[in-house]
Amino acid sequence: MKLVICPDAAAARAVAARVIARQIRRKPSSVLGLATGRTMEAIYQLLVQEHAELGLDFSEVTTFNLDEYVGLPGSHEQSYRHYMRAHLFDRVNIRSEHAHVPDGAAANPDVEALAYEAAIVSSGGIDLQLLGLGENGHIGFNEPLSALRSRTRAVTLDRATREQNAGMFGGDPDCVPARALTMGTGTILDARETLMVVTGAAKADILARVVEGPVSAFVPGSALQLHERCLVVLDEAAASGLTQRDVIAWQMSHDPELTALLEAVQG
Ligand code: GLP
Repeated sequence: MKLVICPDAAAARAVAARVIARQIRRKPSSVLGLATGRTMEAIYQLLVQEHAELGLDFSEVTTFNLDEYVGLPGSHEQSYRHYMRAHLFDRVNIRSEHAHVPDGAAANPDVEALAYEAAIVSSGGIDLQLLGLGENGHIGFNEPLSALRSRTRAVTLDRATREQNAGMFGGDPDCVPARALTMGTGTILDARETLMVVTGAAKADILARVVEGPVSAFVPGSALQLHERCLVVLDEAAASGLTQRDVIAWQMSHDPELTALLEAVQG
C-alpha cells in the first residue's frame, strides 16, 4: 500500500485524476473500474476538462462501475448509471457499449451479477480500479461482514449506508433502495491496480482502520492491504486519524513513484 497525503481535497482530486489520465495515456484501451459518490464528482470533472482541453481520449477505454441499486433502472435519476452519464459518460468520447454499470433493473440480480463478472473477465480484467470509502468501511457496496473473497452479487445495504446516501433520496434513509448489486471484494482485488481516494474529517477514523487496522471483513476497505499495487490518496482531514505519520511521510518523500506524482501535480 502506498499513501499520498495532500494538503487539501482539491489536491487529492488532482492527484487521482492524474493517475487515471496517465493510465489512459499509457494504455488507450485501458479497462477502468469506476466508482460513484460525492468524492468522485470533482475527479470526473477534471477528466472531462482534460478530455476537452488536452484531448484525453476515451474512445478505446472500457469501464466497469462498482455497483448499482437493485430496483433502479439506468434511466432513474438516482441510479448510478444516471450519475455516470451526468458526470462522465455523456461528457467524454467513451463508446456507450464500453461503459458498463450493473443493471439494477435486471429481472434476476443473481444472473446479472454472474454476467457482470463474466464481462469483466472477457474484457481482459480491470487495469485500474477507482474506489471511494463508505463511512462504515465499505468499498463498492461491500458492507461490513462481506467476505474478503466475495464476487459480484446482490447485497443488503447496511443501515449506515442508507443513512449516508439518504441525501440523494430526499433525505430519507427509508427511500434508499434496500439492496444493491456490487462487485465483490475479491473482484476488486483482482484489478491490476487500485486507487482509493478519501477526503474529509468524517472518514478519518474509518480510514485509519482501513490502513492501520487488521484486515477484517468488518472493515471491507482493509482488504486493500492485500493488494499488490494499491495507492491511497488522502487529504489532511481524512489522514488526521493515522498514527504512523512518520512512516508514511518517509515513504512519500523517498518513493520515486510518489515523489514523481507529487511533483507532477505541483507543477
Ligand atoms: C457509495 C458508493 C461507494 C462510495 C461511497 C462514498 O456508497 N457505493 O462506492 O465509496 O458512496 O461516497 P462519498 O464519496 O459520497 O462519501
